[in-house]
Amino acid sequence: MAGTPEFREQWSTKLGLILAMAGNAVGLGNFLRFPTQAAENGGGAFMIPYMIAMLLIAIPLMWTEWAIGRYGGAKGHGATPGIFKFLWKNPISKYIGVLGLFVPFVVLCYYIYIESWTLGYAIFSLFGVLPHPDPSLPQNQYLKPFADFLSWYTKPSFVAYLFFLITIAFNAFILYKGVSGGIEKFAKVAIPTLFILAAVLMIRVILIETPNGTAVQGLDFLWHPDFSQLLNPQVWLAAAGQVFFTLSLGFGAIITYASYIREDDDIVASGLSSASLNELAEVILGGSIAIPAAVAFFGVMNAQNVAESGAFNLAFVSLPAIFSNLTGGGILGFFWFFLLFFAGATSSVAISMPVITFLQDEFKLSRTVAVTATVIFTFLVAQIPIFLPKALDEMDFWAGTFFVVLFALLEVVVFFWLFESKKAWEEINRGGLFRVPRFYYYVLKFVTPVALFIILIAWSVEMFPKVLSTTSMEAWIARLVMIFILLLLFFMVYLASKRNGETA
Ligand code: TRP
Repeated sequence: MAGTPEFREQWSTKLGLILAMAGNAVGLGNFLRFPTQAAENGGGAFMIPYMIAMLLIAIPLMWTEWAIGRYGGAKGHGATPGIFKFLWKNPISKYIGVLGLFVPFVVLCYYIYIESWTLGYAIFSLFGVLPHPDPSLPQNQYLKPFADFLSWYTKPSFVAYLFFLITIAFNAFILYKGVSGGIEKFAKVAIPTLFILAAVLMIRVILIETPNGTAVQGLDFLWHPDFSQLLNPQVWLAAAGQVFFTLSLGFGAIITYASYIREDDDIVASGLSSASLNELAEVILGGSIAIPAAVAFFGVMNAQNVAESGAFNLAFVSLPAIFSNLTGGGILGFFWFFLLFFAGATSSVAISMPVITFLQDEFKLSRTVAVTATVIFTFLVAQIPIFLPKALDEMDFWAGTFFVVLFALLEVVVFFWLFESKKAWEEINRGGLFRVPRFYYYVLKFVTPVALFIILIAWSVEMFPKVLSTTSMEAWIARLVMIFILLLLFFMVYLASKRNGETA
């Protein structure tokens, strides 16, 4: 039985595939992480390392993930443990692939909770439940009720828990309907809606003018280039980190989506199209909403604080505060949070898929059983980040930062070095609407792995001392749970290989 591809679902249209992949990539990062990173790392000058990292790390890695996925799908496997064993015929290759289940699953368990805040806040905005302080108050007093509301909500409140349940049920509903019947249909509605909402917000924000400033000053603040920053290695690292994050690389999620592409369908142009949609949402729309609004409202002087107060403050404190002071602010707030909710939901279904696909392909479970098992397990593990906020940070560091880069590096090495560069290159180009320029052969072979290795080392040196010195109970609980999940996944991969009659 092993190796005989059985019936697997497929994307029904090329447009649907591109929109689903764009949904995978477009997330909270486009609207919050990108503008704050750019503002803190040289403004307009940030775009130079950003574009270089895009061309030398992100785009090649994206093609790699699409190619690995399509290759595995043709052999009946959509998750990395099942795929890697074909790429590198070594008993340990499937265990390396475990990272492609671990990373998305652990991230899902906290991502979905944060996603549920955006739904909650969308509804609050619509019904005018958010605070309405007197706008003539000084800035910090004006913001305080919003910050208090956020800490009440995330304690977690009963309401927050309720929205968490609704959000997980919504995700489960889409997943039960499958790849083309659920994810693809949802993306076809969610991505256009998201672009329209973002465009409306962008236009409204550009018109904001207060005694403190204007949105145009905000654009100037964000994009004013500080070229001296280009000598700072941190800026380059931040740019590489952002392109990586925004295209959802190193998660196994793109690989699983790509495994549902027909064997000879183009991936070269489709991959570029979905990446372009992501960049449009990031650089144009993401750069024109949060930061310009904050500058117009609080003034250029305070813009630095706003950027440095972090993405959560920007999303859940500063922006509701700004909207509450505009006419029609409830609707604008609803647009803002609903946009984030769609951005989040198209991503959370993507990171749910590797485990679901793994259960279906390797254990021949039905979709319903695979989805049910995954949703129940997600629900249980999610209790940890919900009730233990420090556990969330810990999970975000290991699964969402460190292992992502490590896994991306392993992907390129397995595909381009162990599988063999020539075969890998042909895999990428097969069926392509055009051929990838030869230049990228060398980029993939040498530049991308070396760059990823440097990022991995630099981040480890920077973060390990900080993270490892965390001895809080909450961090330890998170670590133990993650070790448990990792061991469980190893065991399941072992079982799957026994089941398929291989030598473990
Ligand atoms: N790309 C998403 C964003 O910009 C975040 C993200 C990173 C993600 N990796 C992912 C989303 C994997 C889904 C799957 O916000």
